[in-house]
Amino acid sequence: KQDLVVLGIETSCDDTAAAVVRSSGEILSQVVSSQADLLARYGGVAPKMAEEAHSQVIDQVVQEALEKANLSERDLSAVAVTIGPGLSLCLRVGVRKARKVAGTFNLPIIGVHHMEAHALVARLTEQDLQFPFMALLISGGHNLLILAHDLGQYLQLGTTIDDAIGEAYDKTAKWLGLDMRRSGGPAIEELALEGDAESIKFSIPMKQHKDCNFSYAGLKTQVRLAIESRNVNAAIPISSASSDDRRCRADIAASFQRVAVLHLEERCHRAIEWALKIEPSIKYLVVSGGVASNKYVRARLDHVVKKNNLHLVCPPPSLCTDNGVMVAWTGIEQFRVGRFDPPPPAEEPEDFV
Ligand code: KG4
Ligand code: ZN
Repeated sequence: KQDLVVLGIETSCDDTAAAVVRSSGEILSQVVSSQADLLARYGGVAPKMAEEAHSQVIDQVVQEALEKANLSERDLSAVAVTIGPGLSLCLRVGVRKARKVAGTFNLPIIGVHHMEAHALVARLTEQDLQFPFMALLISGGHNLLILAHDLGQYLQLGTTIDDAIGEAYDKTAKWLGLDMRRSGGPAIEELALEGDAESIKFSIPMKQHKDCNFSYAGLKTQVRLAIESRNVNAAIPISSASSDDRRCRADIAASFQRVAVLHLEERCHRAIEWALKIEPSIKYLVVSGGVASNKYVRARLDHVVKKNNLHLVCPPPSLCTDNGVMVAWTGIEQFRVGRFDPPPPAEEPEDFV
């Protein structure tokens, strides 16, 4: 097998990320610049602002990834870049940069699907992970259950009919007045440790639908109503809340998290039953995407997976949230089977992409 060194670039949402990865699975460098300050100030991702933020740091992020890997562009075998799904203004910043590097240094270029990258990075961390396998991909914008038959051959078993689980974590955090300088998920995870998860009986979404789809909009509404009825004032940051108020917020966080994850557990259990009928040789369920960095989520899903005699594969948190490694690695997988584009022209007009 040819030894490849691939640069991966990711700008689909609010993180500007780049990494250099070897086909042996060695991560030579990983750089992420997050827009957490912008998110905290505006309470969400505004595409135009996010685009500007990506544009400001992209050159530096790529430069740093190469320096940390102790390489120059000339040592690369190819450039991989996320081409979707995501905010198109943001994706363009990454694609433009990737085409520039690939054009200047005469390198093949590989377009990567963001969700495929979330799933495939598990094959970097778990070398035994062969196709076919299952994956639950849980992030801010997506909630997918898939059966991965082979590279590029994915059967969707379920998706969200409205919001993704990460969106529900983020809104709950915002309404509870948690520190939004980082994303809502980790803040809820931490606060939930102090709360009683059985204190509020939120109902589990879509119980009557015996399929593998998800819904988080209704749970979001239940949480909002619970917050309103308990007079939690999000304008008072949790750090200044009284101990009773803090306790009340922690109970809401824990109760929300319990039901949000029960919904995942139920769907995963059914999906495994379905998938094993199609592909009895499946041994692994991959859980990836930002929400997969949550320890409670991991522990609960590990239980479901073991009950069904499968193994759980969960990449480390830095590879679960958006990153350049997963893009570089997916690029390597595609390159190996001949899926790449020839180098773009060295001189391309700036507005070509
Ligand atoms: O994969 P990702 O970084 O970006 C998207 O592709 O959306 O996922 C971001 C999402 C956010 O909603 C964030 O709140 C959530 O992942 N997240 C978490 C945790 N860490 C990140 N949710 C729950 N618990 C966490 N520890
Ligand atoms: Zn993502």
